[in-house]
Amino acid sequence: MSKPSLQNIRFSNKSSSISDTEIKEITSKFNTPLYVVDEQTILDNLSSLENSFNNYNGKTSIAYSIKSNFNPSIIEILNKEGILFDLTSLGEIYFFKQTNGNFDHILYTSITEEENEFVAAMKSGISKFVIGSYNGLLNLISASKLSQCRPKVLVRINPEIDVVADISASSSMGKFGVPVDNLSNDDAFYIINKIYDSDILEFYGIHFHLGSQISDPSCFVKTIDILASLITKLQSNIDNFSLPILDIGGGTPVKYIQPVPSPDDIGKLITDKLNMFIKSFNLSPTLIVESGRYLSAESAILISKIVNSKTYPEGKFHIVDAGYNLLLDSALMKQEYPIDIITKSEIHSYENIQIGGRLCDTLDTFQIPSDKKYPSAEIGDLVIFRNVGAYSIVFNMPFHCQTKPSILLRKRDQSIHIIREEENIEDLFNSEGGNLISQQ
Ligand SMILES: Cc1ncc(COP(=O)(O)O)c(C=O)c1O
Repeated sequence: MSKPSLQNIRFSNKSSSISDTEIKEITSKFNTPLYVVDEQTILDNLSSLENSFNNYNGKTSIAYSIKSNFNPSIIEILNKEGILFDLTSLGEIYFFKQTNGNFDHILYTSITEEENEFVAAMKSGISKFVIGSYNGLLNLISASKLSQCRPKVLVRINPEIDVVADISASSSMGKFGVPVDNLSNDDAFYIINKIYDSDILEFYGIHFHLGSQISDPSCFVKTIDILASLITKLQSNIDNFSLPILDIGGGTPVKYIQPVPSPDDIGKLITDKLNMFIKSFNLSPTLIVESGRYLSAESAILISKIVNSKTYPEGKFHIVDAGYNLLLDSALMKQEYPIDIITKSEIHSYENIQIGGRLCDTLDTFQIPSDKKYPSAEIGDLVIFRNVGAYSIVFNMPFHCQTKPSILLRKRDQSIHIIREEENIEDLFNSEGGNLISQQ
């Protein structure tokens, strides 16, 4: 509940339900900057994503892409929900293992696809792999022989279409997946035939991932059309062809400032198309929807404090004790986060503001909508960045010798717990090579 004296401008209401009063209480006990993650928001977004694909005439599973936020407590929360996980590195496997994850729930999508990586993944208990190159297939075969495993394999296709998204993962001659029609061995049809010919691999399905923060979901429809041409060829070439899994990757967008299509709208568009697709090919794949951003972004806020301020004729420039070392995408992608200001005092006026971080770097300024006015604030007041749970904490970095701030979890019963301790400067110094040669 907000105190009547606190006036805020809210651009997004969904971003974690932590009230201004709670925020003030938290900052009376913990140093800023700090992140607060709301467990209920993660769970609400999981169920809203699940519900969005209810229209599919088959089974649907959600997979959490832990790259968006690998905090162990967040992995643990989603583990308890029994969902699948999209993992992509041996480091992520370690995190997953330490949080008692179920290895049957992992889809492992390596980018490097090295033999020793596959051997290590198989040793840890992973049995489902996504392959995105012919070289990757060969390495998976040799790793399977070495490990005496019979993995299930999905083939990642690159539809080579344009995707309207903050980050597109599909392009001609792109990094991810193989085309459906290629003259070389890096071709989905060729690779799938090889999997069927192999006595050590089991074909498990097709995967694609089109991008992150997709604002026009018609790319899914186009990709399913491209997939249809591949399935036609496969069905006429492989007698016992079946498609246990169709994994459509991630990309469900989050409303930061600009409106985005809702998961319901996206889910309806995709499932209407898929229902026709599976009917015409007489297939019944389980649909896997991956998500990092949608499951984690809205759950977290970053609380920062105004530590310096100056006045221009046009308005105020506030410097906060956070920086792009904590919100890298604000510099890298010009990501706009919804921002609220919580002031100590009664608000009498609104003004234009700019907000800069604490780093001595021109890029360290935050995107402020040009048409918004903010409550007049002063040093010591709070600046809250919302929807920061995805692709921000995982990018925390020590530029300017900055330590990582703590992360708090607000559990469903509203109790607050520290899920990452604030890093101290001695630990940072030591991890950066503080064991000086002169003292060895
Ligand atoms: C293969 C794959 N799946 C899923 C995701 C998650 O995407 P998003 O966070 O946009 O849902 C990514 C993100 O890079 C990815 O590479």
